[in-house]
Amino acid sequence: MRDEGLLATTTDPEDIQFEAGLRPRQMDEFIGQPELKERLAILIEAALQRGESIDHTLFSGPPGLGKTSLAGILANEMGSNFRATSGPALERPGDLAAVITNLDAGDLLFIDEIHRLPRQVEEVLYPAMEDFQLDIVVGKGPAARSIRLELPRFTLVGATTRVGRVAPPLRDRFGYVARLDYYDDSDLAEIVKRAAGILDADVRPDGATAIASRSRGTPRIANRLLRRVRDYATVRGDGVINEATARKALEIFEVDARGLDKVDRYILEAIIEKFHGGPVGLSTLAIAVGEETETVEDAYEPFLLQEGLIQRTPRGRVATRNAYVHLGLEPPADDPQGRLI
Ligand SMILES: Nc1ncnc2c1ncn2[C@@H]1O[C@H](COP(=O)(O)OP(=O)(O)O)[C@@H](O)[C@H]1O
Ligand SMILES: [Mg+2]
Repeated sequence: MRDEGLLATTTDPEDIQFEAGLRPRQMDEFIGQPELKERLAILIEAALQRGESIDHTLFSGPPGLGKTSLAGILANEMGSNFRATSGPALERPGDLAAVITNLDAGDLLFIDEIHRLPRQVEEVLYPAMEDFQLDIVVGKGPAARSIRLELPRFTLVGATTRVGRVAPPLRDRFGYVARLDYYDDSDLAEIVKRAAGILDADVRPDGATAIASRSRGTPRIANRLLRRVRDYATVRGDGVINEATARKALEIFEVDARGLDKVDRYILEAIIEKFHGGPVGLSTLAIAVGEETETVEDAYEPFLLQEGLIQRTPRGRVATRNAYVHLGLEPPADDPQGRLI
């Protein structure tokens, strides 16, 4: 088995603990995304002044950009309890009913991967979000009847990597929908410095910049890379993390100068070598690189698109001229479809 890419969801308890320790808890610890923070600050202050809970809020964006962190920050800033679950965990309407009938007024319910809620569960959510009512069916067959429960006023915060897959009636029931974008290198360098402070790692400014520029615009990756570089600096250096240490460490872990990891490169290589530069359909491509279609689409593709390394066409994904150049390959001389940019 080959080891996983940087974006793989971790199940390693040490990794989970590490992330939890670095998670920003208050708005002022959350670096970057200034416009989004300002809008959220307004929502929070207005709700606090009126003594109400905040509107249902949906966060979308690629993995690792801070959606779960922001949901927790909203709860902290509102002084609300934070209750978390996820789309795939709520298999049946009863699962959701069990969660929401246990909420207290003002609680914040976080549903991660909300685009993966089953349709029947979603339908229970609509009146709960809109009118704070829950319709449940008790009994079976002819004896079945529907009862209506009044719910306390709670705030639903949803997170999704794919806002396009959230059913429109669900999306419309959120009072505020926010999209998180990739971070620039200077924000990522600040995130690395903050994490280094918490981890007590000796990171010099040029070291933070070197890690930031290889982090695919993603705070979670910046923190993971910092951890790898710190390991390297501890066992192969004097513990100091500067540009040279960062560069060497990340070479060993196969993160290239542009921040692409192995899976990113497998994807580009597959398009170029197995599919002659494309176009190739997403699911075929995912099989070729041994990843789930959804992982390629949600986690890898958005960054490769943003970097101009691939393009989406109606017939599938194609590698751009930049992709050939990045991999040190010769772009094809003839380009009859004019597809190489
Ligand atoms: N704006 C930020 N400032 C500081 N650290 C951040 C920020 N956004 C994310 N992180 C770090 O990245 C990790 C992953 O963020 P998370 O909220 O779990 O992302 P998502 O839910 O979007 O996948 C967090 O544990 C935190 O350490
Ligand atoms: Mg999350």
